[in-house]
Order: sequence, then C-alpha cells, then structure tokens
Amino acid sequence: MERSLTMELVRVTEAAALSSARWMGRGKKDEADDAATSAMRDVFDTIPMKGRVVIGEGEMDEAPMLYIGETLGNGYGPRVDVAVDPLEGTNIVAQGTWNALSVLAVADHSKLLHAPDMYMDKIAVGPEAVGKVDINASVTDNLKAVAAAKNKDVEDVVAIVLNRKRHQGIIDEIRETGARIKLISDGDVAAAINTAFDHTGVDILFGSGGAPEGVLAAAALKCLGGDIQGKLLPEDDEQRARCEKMGIDDIDRVLYMDDFCGGDDAIFAATGVTDGELLKGVQFKGMKATTQTVVMRAKSGTVRFIDGNHSLKKKPNLVIK
Ligand code: FBP
Repeated sequence: MERSLTMELVRVTEAAALSSARWMGRGKKDEADDAATSAMRDVFDTIPMKGRVVIGEGEMDEAPMLYIGETLGNGYGPRVDVAVDPLEGTNIVAQGTWNALSVLAVADHSKLLHAPDMYMDKIAVGPEAVGKVDINASVTDNLKAVAAAKNKDVEDVVAIVLNRKRHQGIIDEIRETGARIKLISDGDVAAAINTAFDHTGVDILFGSGGAPEGVLAAAALKCLGGDIQGKLLPEDDEQRARCEKMGIDDIDRVLYMDDFCGGDDAIFAATGVTDGELLKGVQFKGMKATTQTVVMRAKSGTVRFIDGNHSLKKKPNLVIK
C-alpha cells in the first residue's frame, strides 16, 4: 500500500464525522448513520485505490452504499480490502454521549476477515499483555494475567464491558476478583482501542459485540501492537450458513490477529464524532468545525493524531439545514 494513502483516508473519516455530528443528541440514529455513510462514500471516490468493501453497511440488497463487495476509490493505485463503520455508536450520537467514532481500516487485498454481521465474543488488550490472555481462559485468569503483565494488582486493573444483560456473568466475575469495571452503553471499537493507550485507564475488553466491529478493532490493535481474540456466535442456522458462505468453516475456533487482519500492513483511521477518552468529538462554531483523528499504519507503527480545522463555507454538503 502507498504511504500517502494514510493521509487520504483521514479525509474520509473526517467527512463522515462532520456529517453525523450534526445529529448529536437529536434522537435520530438512522439519520446520523445515513449522513455519515453518504459523506464517507463521496470522499472515497476521490481516493487513489482499487478498494473492495469487506466490512460495510450490510449486504448489497440491504444497504444502498458501502455494501459488502462494493468497489471504492478512483480505480487507480493498490488493490485493497476496506472495512468501514461510518458511524460506530449510532445510539451514542442519538443521545449525545461518549465515544462515537467514524472508522475505517484498509489492508492488502484478501487480508481482512469477511466477518458476517452477527455477534462475536471478544477479548482485547494493549501491547504489554500480548500473548498473556486467552479467550478460552476464565475472566479471573485473564485479569490476573493482565495485572502481572502490567505490573499491577488485580484491584488496579480496569476491564471494559458493554453494559448488557448477556454480560452479567462476566461482570459478576470481574467484581469478585476486585478489579474495576467500566460499563459502556455502546462502542466496543473505541473500547478495544483504548486498551492500547495508557492514559485511557482501560486494560482489557471482555464480552460480545458485533463481529464486523471486531475486524475494525483488530486492524487498529495490529497497528498499535495490541491483541484481540474472537469467537463467532451465530444464533441460528441462517447465521451459521452465512459464516460458511464467507469462508469461515470452523465456527467454534478462536480467531486470532492473523485471521482478522493478515499480512504485515494495515491502515486504520478514526475520527471522534462525540467526545471520548482518546479523541475529542466534532465541535461547531458558525461556519467552522474542528475534528480530531487518529490514523496509524501497521507496517511503520506510526500513530498520528490530527487536529482538523474545517471551513463549512467551503463544504456546504456538511451543513444540515
Ligand atoms: P452501532 O453503531 O451499529 O449502533 O453499534 C454500536 C455497538 O455498541 C457496537 O460497538 C457493538 O459491537 C454492538 O453495538 C453491540 O451490539 P448490541 O447493542 O446488540 O449489544
């Protein structure tokens, strides 16, 4: 992949974040998602690449844009797999709470997992705990392993978990160990990424969320030197068949980093839509707006935080009437 692609991709998540952020707190998650999707789609057309969506807004018959299999880019440049979530945290934006992101990942052709749209059990950690956790081990053992890897007491470890009934067993077990918990309403991509940044105060992600979100988190953690493991959780025969159709033959097996995001390269970009521990959300003032984006590349290990100042006068498509 071309190095210059990195900066080009920032424009894509910035546009999606700027468009969806106007919907913050309006209680309209679908409108926020649509705004992000069409802004992202427009900018992709200008990017020098021959991309194909492997993680997107749905199958061709359910999503008008950024559907799985859609070609993206201006048709020149490298052949790449593209994973997108124009708005990760649709409810977050609708309610105006924390950690909504516009995210994408790009990797060499055929290197991203074609994860079907279903739940996946996940565990994610930052660089210090790589090789120390195991999705098949107990929550307690994993917390002890992270504590040892980070030279902390278990009581000092912070686990992040989506606040769902299905996670009550995990939450109870974390509480029994004495570790601290951050329960979140949505947004397990941001949660997984945060495990790799000390200042977020988060050490490990547990629990199930979307499988496509798992691929996006994996691309980010690959760039950051962290780790993710996953297990698909099909809920019926139709979902099992979907796994097989997408080339995932053994549904029960653990998916490791190389399964999610193979090869030695990947580019990941995320722009904050609402404020979070890692990124500030979009702020508007008159015809000006600011964004904050993190963009990173696995091959070089470079992580950049980019503050954008945007003139909405010159980007009238981003202004909601
Ligand atoms: P959306 O942006 O599609 O609403 O997803 C938000 C999210 O919280 C993801 O981060 C997470 O993987 C998934 O939903 C969890 O699903 P559920 O809300 O069904 O538990």
